[in-house]
Amino acid sequence: MKKVAIITGASRGIGAATALLLAKNNYAVCINYHQSQLKADQIVHAIQQNDGVAIAIQANLACEQDVVRLFESVDQHFGPVSALINNAGTNGGICGVEHITTDRLQHVFATNVFGTFIACREAVKRMKKISGGNIINVSSEAARFGGTNLAHYAASKAAINTLTIGFAREVATYNIRVNTVSPGVIDTELHHSSPPERIENLLKTLPMGRMGKTQEVSELILWLLSDAASYISGAIIPITGAR
Ligand SMILES: NC(=O)c1ccc[n+]([C@@H]2O[C@H](COP(=O)([O-])OP(=O)(O)OC[C@H]3O[C@@H](n4cnc5c(N)ncnc54)[C@H](OP(=O)(O)O)[C@@H]3O)[C@@H](O)[C@H]2O)c1
Repeated sequence: MKKVAIITGASRGIGAATALLLAKNNYAVCINYHQSQLKADQIVHAIQQNDGVAIAIQANLACEQDVVRLFESVDQHFGPVSALINNAGTNGGICGVEHITTDRLQHVFATNVFGTFIACREAVKRMKKISGGNIINVSSEAARFGGTNLAHYAASKAAINTLTIGFAREVATYNIRVNTVSPGVIDTELHHSSPPERIENLLKTLPMGRMGKTQEVSELILWLLSDAASYISGAIIPITGAR
């Protein structure tokens, strides 16, 4: 019997790599996407080609009704979720605090923070009924160093770290673990909106001389979901290549 996983923002990047890996490891996976339907369908297709089980469901994490519908659709297709990967996120674009707008803050916090909270709420209701589960939030090391002209993004990820600690304590007695992976610089489209000189400067700061790979993050997520990590909850685990 397959376990059921929802991976938010799984049409590309870290989310897509995680969906592919979980599908290979006996999970029926829900690939949530916002705008990239074609890419989400391609991930579903790749999983099905390998005899895996997957569906793609569109939902804007910044919209509460969409998140509720996402979980209800998964109930209907696969049954209650036992693993939630809160991965969908946006950096909101480079912008110093001097120029920040309420619109930009609302967009970043609604997606990264509110979306994660509401998904946690929906997941925990279901996980209590099946006597256990696992929630992994995808934060960012920006939460610790503040980001560079990305304080809005860094602050949203700091909120995720704090949520992880409090929520893990709340649900520990229900056999539900809550952890966060905190990537450094990973090679994904998230960086495509940055000017090339910014990427060049970023690369110079990476001790291993390269960005992390999406697969490297997904391997950490898979391990955290496993029984090998059964006493790990409320943890924020950096994956930074020593940065
Ligand atoms: N890459 C890095 O260096 C890095 C470092 C630290 C942390 N992270 C975090 O890792 C996570 C994944 O990042 P990534 O680099 O893989 O990003 P990415 O390649 O830009 O992919 C972002 C994913 O999030 C989805 N998404 C964005 N807004 C959404 C919304 N409102 N509702 C639902 N889905 C939404 C996108 O869906 P659509 O394409 O369908 O719109 C896409 O699947 C993010 O939380 C990011 O903050 C990344």
